[in-house]
Amino acid sequence: MKNAVSWVLVLFLTVTLLNNCLHTKTYKEIKKKQSFIDQLRLAYSSGDISKWPKPILDPSKPAFSEIGHLPKIEFPSDNSYSAEKASLGRILFYDPRLSGSNQIACASCHDPELSWTDNRKFSFGHDRQLGNRNAMTIMNVAYAKSLFWDGRAASLEDQAKMPIEDMREMHEHIDIATEKILKVKGYEPLFEKAFGDKKITKDRIAKAIATFERTIISPASRFDQFIDGDKEAYTDDEVMGLHLFRTKAQCMNCHNSGYFSNNLFENDGTSLLSSDEEDLGQYLITKKSSDVGKFRVPTLREITKTGPWMHNGSFNTLAEVINFYNTGNPELAKHRSTIHEGISLQSEKSDMLKLLELTKEEMLQLEAFLGTLSTPTTRPAPPKLPK
Ligand code: HEC
Ligand code: HEC
Repeated sequence: MKNAVSWVLVLFLTVTLLNNCLHTKTYKEIKKKQSFIDQLRLAYSSGDISKWPKPILDPSKPAFSEIGHLPKIEFPSDNSYSAEKASLGRILFYDPRLSGSNQIACASCHDPELSWTDNRKFSFGHDRQLGNRNAMTIMNVAYAKSLFWDGRAASLEDQAKMPIEDMREMHEHIDIATEKILKVKGYEPLFEKAFGDKKITKDRIAKAIATFERTIISPASRFDQFIDGDKEAYTDDEVMGLHLFRTKAQCMNCHNSGYFSNNLFENDGTSLLSSDEEDLGQYLITKKSSDVGKFRVPTLREITKTGPWMHNGSFNTLAEVINFYNTGNPELAKHRSTIHEGISLQSEKSDMLKLLELTKEEMLQLEAFLGTLSTPTTRPAPPKLPK
C-alpha cells in the first residue's frame, strides 16, 4: 500500500515538472516570436528603407526595385496634363455615345464604385456579349508600361480607341464615334478649353481619356502610412505578412516597386492550353514561342477589391490565389501544350513559382498584408453629359 502511494506521488511530481518545463518553453517561444515581430515592426516603420531586412530574391536575379510609395506621375510630353483636359476625359469616359448602341461607356466596365473594374469573371458589353478576359482596374494604370493582360497597347492614348472598336465591348467604329461626339454641340467649348480650339478628332478624344485615366491614383494606403512611420498602423499579422511577401513567399520577384508590378510578362502556368479557356497570352501579340502563357504582372494595389482574380477571373478569393502560389502551381501536363494555327506550342511555367511551404498561419498573414494595399472606395457623382 505504502509502495503504491509513493508511486503515485512520484508520477504526480514528474507530470508537474514536465508540464512546467513545457510551459516555460512555449512561453519562451511566444516571447521570441513576439520580439521578432516587434523588431520587424520597428524596421519596416522606421521611414528608412535601408533599415529593412534584405529581401529573398530568386537566383535568376529578376528585375527588381523595392516596394514603397507610388512615385509622382509623369505625363508624356506629347500629351501634357491640364485640369481641363482631364475633366473632358472624365466626361468622355462616362459617355455611352462612344458605343454603337449608345448604351455602353468605359465606366460601365470600369466603375469607380467597384474600384474601377466590374467585379465580374468576364465583362459583358455590346448585346450583353461576354468577353474572354477579366476587366482590369484602371486605378494606377498610369504606372503600367504597356496595357492589357497581353500588353497589346503601348500607351493609354493607343489603348483608349480599342474598346470602342472591340466588337464585344463597345462595337463602334472610332470614326463614327468621333462623328457622334462632333454632333454634340456642348462638347465644343470643352474641347476648346482642353486643346485651344474646337476641333474634335479621335486622337483628341483618346488624349483626353488618357489624361483622365492618369489622374486615377490610389491615395496613401495603410501600407504607405506604416512604412512612413505610423508604427501602430499594422497588426502583428500584417507585419509578418509584409515580411513574408518580401522573403519566404517570394512574391517580390515579380510584384515589386511602388506599383507592386515589375511591368514584365511572366508565365504563372495559367494559360490552360488545349482547354476551352486556352489563352496564349503575350504570344498572341509577339508570336514568339517563349511568350506562350505569359501575362503582364498585375499591380497588387487595391487588390482586395478587384476580384475575381487573374486574366480569366478564375479565383474567387485571395486565399485561393495564395494557396495556388504556395503549391507552386503544378500546372497539369495536359494543359501545357497545344496546336495553334498549325503550330505546336508549349507553356513553360516560370521557375520562380515553386513549392513555398507556407504554414496556414503564414498564408493568413500574407492575405492580411495584401489587405493593407487597398484604400476606401469612393463614389464620385457621375459628370453631367453635354447635349
Ligand atoms: C465591355 C467592358 C469594357 C468596356 C466597355 C471598356 N473596357 Fe477597358 N477593359 C475591359 C477588359 C475585359 C480589359 C482587359 C482586356 C484584355 O486584357 O484583353 C480592359 C482593359 C482596359 C485597360 C488596361 C488596363 C491595364 O492595366 O492594362 C484600360 C486602360 C482600359 N480598359 C480602359 C478603357 C477605356 C478608356 C474604355 C472606354 C473607351 C474601356 N476601357 C471600355 C473591359 C472593358
Ligand atoms: C513569376 C512571377 C510572379 C510571382 C513570383 C508572383 N506573381 Fe502574382 N502574378 C503574376 C502574374 C504573371 C499574374 C497574372 C497571371 C494571370 O492573369 O494568369 C499574377 C497575378 C496575381 C494576382 C491576381 C491579380 C489580379 O489582378 O487578378 C495576385 C493576387 C497575385 N498575383 C499575388 C501574388 C502573391 C501573393 C505572390 C507571392 C506568394 C505572387 N503573386 C507571386 C506573377 C507573379
